[in-house]
Amino acid sequence: MKQRIALASEWVGRARRIVVLTGAGISAESGVPTFRGDEGLWKRHRPEKLATPEAFRRNPRLVWEWYRYRQALVEKTRPNDAHRALARLEEGREGFLLVTQNIDGHHERAGSRKVVELHGNLFRARCDECGERRSMRGETASTTIPRCARGHEMRPDVVWFGEALPVPALEEAWKGATQSDLFLVIGTSAQVHPAASLPLAAKESGSRVVEVNTAETVLTDVADLVLRGRAAKIVPLIARVEKGA
Ligand code: APR
Repeated sequence: MKQRIALASEWVGRARRIVVLTGAGISAESGVPTFRGDEGLWKRHRPEKLATPEAFRRNPRLVWEWYRYRQALVEKTRPNDAHRALARLEEGREGFLLVTQNIDGHHERAGSRKVVELHGNLFRARCDECGERRSMRGETASTTIPRCARGHEMRPDVVWFGEALPVPALEEAWKGATQSDLFLVIGTSAQVHPAASLPLAAKESGSRVVEVNTAETVLTDVADLVLRGRAAKIVPLIARVEKGA
């Protein structure tokens, strides 16, 4: 494993355009539950009951209860060494893009700037009638359904199952992936498309793919280098920053 980490770290040092795709696994060590692991959220809750447009139409109060529960849970957690290492890695680099499937906002809190949130953000609400978006930081204790300035019921500004991803975000991620020379995939089971197609598009465009994950995934055979282990331990090592930096 030490050799593989040294090789990944060398690739990071030599790469000119790095793209990183993160999933729930990068926030697991912060205490944010993943979706499909043994303790995963989808083991205890049915996504079709809580994370679809139909569920929201049927019962907006229940869906908001679920998202406020997750807001309260995430608010108790902090970015970890993996988030911080990626923020350091971005500093002073022109060619760097961080694409995340996570909605916990931990990458920005760790200092990352060039972040594409493919699946939205847990702490933002949006009105599908007039397009108003606003931050919900600081109002997560409220129990009412947030309303826009015109009084319409707002929804969580996240991508639900069966919904299209925000086109500008997806285009930026796709462009980054196909122009990258190094693509790091960290803490994702790669079960959900189009996010999971990004590493394949990068590889087909000639990029080297490095996977950091505690378990095997469908990408493991595609990756040029697999680092089996915890993101908070491995990412600071390959990003060439000391832990806790
Ligand atoms: N370090 C690295 N990887 C980890 C760690 C860790 N400490 N802990 C768990 N993992 C890995 C798991 O092995 C798994 O491959 O993180 C991955 C988490 O997978 P999922 O729970 O499926 O989360 P994710 O891949 O982000 O899901 C994608 O699905 O439910 C939707 O919209 C939701 O964005 C989410 C999308």
